[in-house]
Amino acid sequence: MSKPAVRVAVTGAAGQIGYALLFRIASGEMLGKDQPVILQLLEIPDEKAQKALKGVMMELDDCAFPLLQSMTAHSDPVEAFKDVEVALLVGSRPRGPGMERADLLAVNAAIFTAQGKALNQAAKRNVKVLVVGNPANTNAYIAMKSAPDLPAKNFTAMLRLDHNRALSQLATKMGKPVADIQKLAVWGNHSPTMYADYRFATIGGQSVEKLINDAAWNRDVFLPTVGKRGAAIIEARGLSSAASAANAAIDHIRDWVLGTNGKWVTMGVPSDGSYGIPEGTMYGVPVTCEGGEYHRVKDLAVDAFSRERMDLTLKELIEERDAVAHLLK
Ligand code: NAI
Repeated sequence: MSKPAVRVAVTGAAGQIGYALLFRIASGEMLGKDQPVILQLLEIPDEKAQKALKGVMMELDDCAFPLLQSMTAHSDPVEAFKDVEVALLVGSRPRGPGMERADLLAVNAAIFTAQGKALNQAAKRNVKVLVVGNPANTNAYIAMKSAPDLPAKNFTAMLRLDHNRALSQLATKMGKPVADIQKLAVWGNHSPTMYADYRFATIGGQSVEKLINDAAWNRDVFLPTVGKRGAAIIEARGLSSAASAANAAIDHIRDWVLGTNGKWVTMGVPSDGSYGIPEGTMYGVPVTCEGGEYHRVKDLAVDAFSRERMDLTLKELIEERDAVAHLLK
């Protein structure tokens, strides 16, 4: 007998990332090849967006995915989030011409306040929420604060793209397979200030830091390359990362639901106060996942360079949070 279907909400479903994401969810790459899914897709009420969403749904139909039990299109978040166990919040407002950073934070604060409230009202109490839409950490923080009846730990922000970008840069540098790298951490905000930290990483059991043995490369090449990768993709492609972002979202939820088997991955999660990060801050940390829960990797040493980098990305998150604080009251 097949398992009962899991309801999965995706917002911004007619966007670029949505187009790279939905087909993989429906094919079983996210929740498992034996897990039927129901897709509940949210777009803005705008006629063009709703029409585009219908087109994507026609294509999903045309794939005849055995695991896709049904799907619905929505413009109301309360309806879209009804009984969902997984919510991928991808849709957000991009920065328009002449828009200041504060304006961008404010329009997105309005979106994620409404969506947090809708999740609070309609989603399953065990819902796993991943915020992809930027500024992802702060949007996730706002959604979490707007959903007081749901456990705070259910809200996460996507740092996995930064994690995967860092893995790939390290593998290339060492000329070794990416799959062999373990124990990489990425700290902080999904922004160029993130701190990808390979001090604990191993490859084939050997220390990555010792193999590379080049602090200047870390500081002057590796960290800027990973931090500015999003901008480099826009420059090359004329569009922001979409397939790699969708892939990271699939990785994040799959690992959270199905477990990592002891492997470290990075998730933006509300801080428990460890590592000097104020409690509640939505901050990227290394975790392992088991039984549908994430567990922080604890008691890692923080050296002076790391402290400086971890505080820099924290400072940015605090500034973002302070800029929207008045909207959360
Ligand atoms: P896109 O502009 O192609 O699509 C976004 C879609 O969201 C549009 O169809 C839009 O109508 C919809 N939307 C906007 N507001 C909405 C709302 N309130 N409710 C439902 N739908 C809404 O953008 P794309 O490329 O798909 O990117 C989506 C977001 O993901 C952007 O904010 C982008 O910056 C972010 N992103 C995050 C990454 C991460 O690592 N965390 C990586 C790459 C992108």
